[in-house]
Amino acid sequence: MAADKHNSWSYTEGLPEEDDTLLRARDRSHELGVTAVTPAVGAALTVLAAATKAVTAVEVGAGAGVSGVCLLRGLGPQAVLTTIDADVDHLRAAREAYSEAGIPSNRTRTISGRASDVLPRLTDAAYDLVFIDADKGGLPAYVDQATRLLKAGGMLIINDALDQDRVPEPAVREPSTNTLRQVGKLVRDDESLVSALLPTGTGLLLAVKQRS
Ligand SMILES: C[S@@+](CC[C@H](N)C(=O)[O-])C[C@H]1O[C@@H](n2cnc3c(N)ncnc32)[C@H](O)[C@@H]1O
Repeated sequence: MAADKHNSWSYTEGLPEEDDTLLRARDRSHELGVTAVTPAVGAALTVLAAATKAVTAVEVGAGAGVSGVCLLRGLGPQAVLTTIDADVDHLRAAREAYSEAGIPSNRTRTISGRASDVLPRLTDAAYDLVFIDADKGGLPAYVDQATRLLKAGGMLIINDALDQDRVPEPAVREPSTNTLRQVGKLVRDDESLVSALLPTGTGLLLAVKQRS
């Protein structure tokens, strides 16, 4: 009998054992109406942050800090996470999560503002990792900014790259779904990047900026 793909997905999501810090950050996400990364995406972020040995990372969409804590747990002790969010209440909750996780305050830089205003102010080729989890409409522009911000060999990660699993459904023509289809192809066809789309969570798009 063919095994059920959905069971594999549920198993993968159920495997990470999240501690009280992450569970409290999830509760605050829920209270604030923020959709946090899934447990499997959180675990993947920790692994990717560790594997890239990133020292400088940028996050678009801090939410209540679930993804930030996961990234910070994979980043080395000298690494700094710059995280951007347009909502000050979300940023306050994210800072609470970092503090509860025992992250020294000099390892996070929280910037309040819209990504379209903040990203252009960040330095060219200064970051090892860029994680995007906000505002699907702005994604094509954020991908452009991310390729500018990344050092050669740096990694771009886009969460919910399957737009709540709607991207593979041809009948779904929602603007966000169309944007994610466009971004998937844009990243795939960009010769400066090598990329892979993982079905983890609701899609995790990974790309590494090639060394020229
Ligand atoms: C999906 S949530 C992020 C969840 C977070 N990454 C986590 O896993 O805990 C998206 C966040 O992006 C923020 N946001 C939405 N539009 C934005 C924009 N244009 N610029 C910056 N932040 C934005 C929202 O306030 C929200 O906190």
